[in-house]
Amino acid sequence: MATFPERVFSGVQPTGNLHLGNYLGAIKRFVALQATRPCLYCVVDLHAMTLPFEPAQLARTTREVTAAFLACGIDPKANVVFNQSRVAEHAELAWVFDCVARLGWLNRMTQFKEKAGKDREAASIGLYNYPVLMAADILVYRATHVPVGDDQKQHLELARDIAQKFNNDFSASIAAHGHGDAFFPLPEPLIQGPATRVMSLRDGAKKMSKSDPSENSYIALTDDADTIAQKIRKAKTDPEPLPSEVEGLAQRPEADNLVGIFAALADETKANVLKRFGGAQFSAFKSALADLTIEKLAPIRSEMLRLSADPDFVDSVLADGADRARAMARPNMDAVKDILGLVR
Ligand code: TYM
Repeated sequence: MATFPERVFSGVQPTGNLHLGNYLGAIKRFVALQATRPCLYCVVDLHAMTLPFEPAQLARTTREVTAAFLACGIDPKANVVFNQSRVAEHAELAWVFDCVARLGWLNRMTQFKEKAGKDREAASIGLYNYPVLMAADILVYRATHVPVGDDQKQHLELARDIAQKFNNDFSASIAAHGHGDAFFPLPEPLIQGPATRVMSLRDGAKKMSKSDPSENSYIALTDDADTIAQKIRKAKTDPEPLPSEVEGLAQRPEADNLVGIFAALADETKANVLKRFGGAQFSAFKSALADLTIEKLAPIRSEMLRLSADPDFVDSVLADGADRARAMARPNMDAVKDILGLVR
């Protein structure tokens, strides 16, 4: 198959508070990737419309997620930082993909089932179609690498299936228009590190999530030091001391989660963390974890607060990013139209 220049794309929804799971599973890794390849980081405001939302809050959280990107260390000059709704090509390509993706594929999406809940008939069409728009987000830039948390794995598989089917269905036209044997790359999920699935602090079987009714279940990026320390102190554990080997974390989901969080914050492996804390009681480990979490999150929080007082700057980053994103997306969209026989 054709080779494509490497390019990173990922998105974060502006829905409510960003939490430690978003940071460790995604944003911290966005920061690390910027040195490796050209990157686009998108605040996916169109996705945030798939569940009931407040317009005033959507505008505020869009700026807040942008501020979080910057506060965590994403450089908006070296990378493209923007909000999705400003680049109409995302929605335009999503329609094309609606005609490529199969109903049976979407019916398998577990996140739709979770989010739609019991009354599936009352879910928006947008919620159902969500993964198709996500495929368009990535492929409108022909991005090759997508850093995400573990919960997005199935959506990434769908994006690959859509790319593959487009390439197959229109192979003759793709070749005739000079694009060789494939127009879209099959984007590769980057789901790596010790915190690809950060769990609730109250229940090791549940994912850390901003929609959890218990605020003690997650650490928000905007939590202050006292709140962080308190939430970690209250985190659920078991009565045994920490094991010295990773194997000892099996069947101990809460311990596994806290060790994973420590490892991800410290840029270490779980094995290394356990070398240091094996045999320790949770009280001692929790106190070290609280110190480390506060050390890492305090500068992010204060920079987010500073940026929240400077919305003009944040808006200028989004406007500039959107211009650059559009300039990359438009030629790809035009090529898709030519491939499909859509007269332009
Ligand atoms: P969203 O906004 O729910 O989450 C943003 C990122 O955070 C990761 N994440 C987690 N990682 C580890 N542990 C957790 N508990 C946890 N919770 C969330 C998510 O995996 C994600 O990487 N559909 C996406 C947004 C999106 C997107 C895209 C992503 C839209 N278009 C194109 C990549 C490429 C979402 O809802 O993320």
